[in-house]
Amino acid sequence: MTSGTQQGLFLSSQVLLGPDDHVWVENPAYRGLTAVLESTGHRDSMVRVPVDSEGIDVQAGIRMAPHARGAFVTPSRQYPLGMPMSMSRRNALLAWARGNNGWVVEDDYDSELRYEGYPFPSLQGLDPERVIYLGTFSKVLFPSLRLGYVIAPDDLVDAFCGARILMDRHPPNADQHVLAASMADGHLERHIRRVRNVYADHRALLIEALTAMLPRDVAWIEPGDQGMHLVLWLAQSIDDRLVVDLAAKAGVSVRPVSTTFAPGTGCPGLVLGFGGYSREQMKTAAERLAAVVNKLARSRAARRA
Ligand SMILES: Cc1ncc(COP(=O)(O)O)c(C=O)c1O
Repeated sequence: MTSGTQQGLFLSSQVLLGPDDHVWVENPAYRGLTAVLESTGHRDSMVRVPVDSEGIDVQAGIRMAPHARGAFVTPSRQYPLGMPMSMSRRNALLAWARGNNGWVVEDDYDSELRYEGYPFPSLQGLDPERVIYLGTFSKVLFPSLRLGYVIAPDDLVDAFCGARILMDRHPPNADQHVLAASMADGHLERHIRRVRNVYADHRALLIEALTAMLPRDVAWIEPGDQGMHLVLWLAQSIDDRLVVDLAAKAGVSVRPVSTTFAPGTGCPGLVLGFGGYSREQMKTAAERLAAVVNKLARSRAARRA
């Protein structure tokens, strides 16, 4: 058990990577991962592998760093873009890991929240000897619970447990017992079924509101069908970090997409979370955000004219 996936990412970097090891990281990727690698001496050993509509481009990874020690990926739903990794990419990634004696870290942060169709099998299920699976209760329950888990190959369990104990021993046992009891009684499953409908509804509402208020050449939504956030792309002339600051002043909290890309490769956009808010709050937030983006787009256009 961990205090969440963030700790799982940190532990994985500690246990799996030596000082000179290269590691594949998706481009774009979760800032919580790239910041961990930067802060633990792996800034230059990160190999930022592009993603396309099928997830990480394994052939590109092989061209860039064939003997990397491993890969950090978000196969259920690429973070932040949202598409699942295709079956052929899953197989290719695992074949590379097996042939290279490398590890794959599977950050599965919200696959419980898929709205349509059947999920692909996890990488961990496909190859339990090569994959370290990171799960969390942050999305399906709530982030301040700080409970997550690592499923590690047998050979790595001692190393992970040892590193975990050195950090802070373990997360509170009382919370784990309560959670285990509620899972045993079927409450978690029922909760997931219920929130899945709520979030699907919130997602549709947010998409409808933003699409109605933002012209297509100013902002457009990345398609997807799962999770608790979506990506709103912005026209190239709009600085997403400025939008984040202005939106915060208007009382709306959003994150920039450009900072999830390797330096020099990013596009402007926003990560919009829609978990934990009422329909009314979402509508108000969408209006305020659209006002900020439209104002900025108009001022950019006026400056160019
Ligand atoms: C892609 C991704 N990985 C990991 C995490 C960290 O989750 P946790 O709250 O379990 O530490 C998040 C949280 O937003 C996330 O989006």
